[in-house]
Amino acid sequence: PGLAEALEALPKVELHCHVEGTMRPATVSDLAAANEVDLPVADPTELYRYDSLDGFLRVFWLVQSVLVTQGDWARLAYESAVDGAAHGLVYRESFFTPARHLAAGRTLAEVVAGLDEGLAAAEAETGVRVALILDFDRDFGAAAAEETVDALLALRRAGATGVERVVGVGYDSTEIGQEPGWYAEAFRRAGAAGLRRTAHQGEDSGPEAIAACVDLLGAERIDHGLSILEDPDVTSRFVDDQIALTVCPSSNIRIANAFPTLAEHVFPEMRHRGLLATLNTDDPALTDLDLGREYRAVASAFGWGWDTMVDIALDGVAACWLPDDGKAVLR
Ligand code: ADE
Ligand code: ZN
Repeated sequence: PGLAEALEALPKVELHCHVEGTMRPATVSDLAAANEVDLPVADPTELYRYDSLDGFLRVFWLVQSVLVTQGDWARLAYESAVDGAAHGLVYRESFFTPARHLAAGRTLAEVVAGLDEGLAAAEAETGVRVALILDFDRDFGAAAAEETVDALLALRRAGATGVERVVGVGYDSTEIGQEPGWYAEAFRRAGAAGLRRTAHQGEDSGPEAIAACVDLLGAERIDHGLSILEDPDVTSRFVDDQIALTVCPSSNIRIANAFPTLAEHVFPEMRHRGLLATLNTDDPALTDLDLGREYRAVASAFGWGWDTMVDIALDGVAACWLPDDGKAVLR
């Protein structure tokens, strides 16, 4: 087989993917109808054109708004995992962002139980495994993040269904008018409870904000981290400590408009500098993408062959949060 088929079949790990961003367009339409959510268009894919991160987020929030019941979350999670498995996904640490559901009076318990139900079904069917990262939405502010982490810790104490699947916390959403340090308390509470920590940064902000995530939030990974190369000291620190970046090159073209074309993305420079830069899709259903396609697109844009792409896949394993014996199985 050619390289394209081989990359599709290559067992892959993904560390930066939002479960809401995997929602099939047909599921967006179905759930909108079932829950009486008005979409501005009949075909949701008509909305999937972005000129900025904040423009994208308006669509992302609309997609989130069609999720109402526990069963909706279960369907989303099931489809998300089987769709990933169809393109070689074997293990994912998947974000979910419950802020708008909690603000609407729904509980974290139903969101987590629904996700767990769908993921367990997909795992039984395909063998793919999915852990969860609870993302704070910066649009809702630091107090909401603290409340959310407290709600998660209460579910852990109660032994709630599916809560053991949540292995870490992060934050996502807008970077405009935000400072990492505002979220220090939420991340501190999570870290003290043994949860892993990551942070979306440097998609729409500079390298000083990336460093602040490590210093002030205890972040062990950075999601995107696009601006890191602008600061040689921050770059050296990430190289020396092998702090991972979960990079999403095609997303950065389509969502953040960070580079005119994939060939101009800094991903090769990041890896060349020795950064632990992994490859991920971010929001595949909202950007006409899947993980197999992302591997093929990157190989083609940068002229990389099989060995380089396998190295990239293995770096995903290195940067994941499984214990060492779990990582060994994936290698
Ligand atoms: N939520 C979903 N995708 C995101 C992204 N690329 N950046 C910030 N928040 C997000
Ligand atoms: Zn993201």
